[in-house]
Amino acid sequence: MAAQRIDGKALAQQVLAECGAEVARMVTRGVVPGLAVVLVGDNPASRAYIRNKVRACADVGVRSIVHEFGADTSQAQVIEQVRRLNDDPAIHGILVQLPLPKTLDEAAILAEVVAHKDVDGFHEVNRGALFSGQPRFPPCTPAGMMRMLDSIGVSLTGKHAVVVGRSNTVGKPMALLLLARDATVTLCTSKTVDLASHTRRADVLVVAVGRPGLVNGDMVKPGAIVLDVGINRTAEGKLVGDVDFDSVAQVAAHVTPVPGGVGPMTVAMLVVNTIAAAQ
Ligand code: GUN
Repeated sequence: MAAQRIDGKALAQQVLAECGAEVARMVTRGVVPGLAVVLVGDNPASRAYIRNKVRACADVGVRSIVHEFGADTSQAQVIEQVRRLNDDPAIHGILVQLPLPKTLDEAAILAEVVAHKDVDGFHEVNRGALFSGQPRFPPCTPAGMMRMLDSIGVSLTGKHAVVVGRSNTVGKPMALLLLARDATVTLCTSKTVDLASHTRRADVLVVAVGRPGLVNGDMVKPGAIVLDVGINRTAEGKLVGDVDFDSVAQVAAHVTPVPGGVGPMTVAMLVVNTIAAAQ
């Protein structure tokens, strides 16, 4: 293997240790950061993510509370809960776990979270700030990847970054964060014709589609940095990313593993955003 793995788990622990020190300082001033999570339905992956988020909060001294609702909960009930949390002075950050059940209007619910408690960065005001190059709460997964890039000391100025996947939670905000750091950005989708012709030109390649093995070593430029956002479960129950790690590791300079790569950084950045909201 030529590439170095970027150890997201270790970096997340480092970020959380800094968070713990910051929370300790805040507590001496009488402020305990508080995060509320709203979970609707019983998506097992969402439950696992929330467990990790709650644990990370507990580790650094952030209070967290999970409000759970059944899959048949109405739009009005979810909105009522969000509004209660908006008005609760002990809650500084609110996270509505996605995906919501199909019966609910996701955009309408996310719009209810007041912008200054929107630690996911999904409110239109926060998306607008990111669009203008002045992010207040950058979405956690892209923010975590920017920390990973900083941790390996890469200068992004003038580099060609290729993002595969145009989701509102990862692909689009990641493209904007890279652009804000003067990278030249290509945003591809799973439908891009001749995807490999784009990925092969990437100095930094971000893959966030949700398709195992979408990118292999033949599609990567020698010396590239490859960040894999995919979390897919194989028929055998193994967790794999969107990137074929073994073949890409022969070509790239740096690559993130799955698990233990981008995932832990998403959790750490949620804690960072919650502390920022409380400040
Ligand atoms: N579901 C998958 N990733 C995320 C995330 O970062 N935030 C929320 N709220 N839901 C998610």
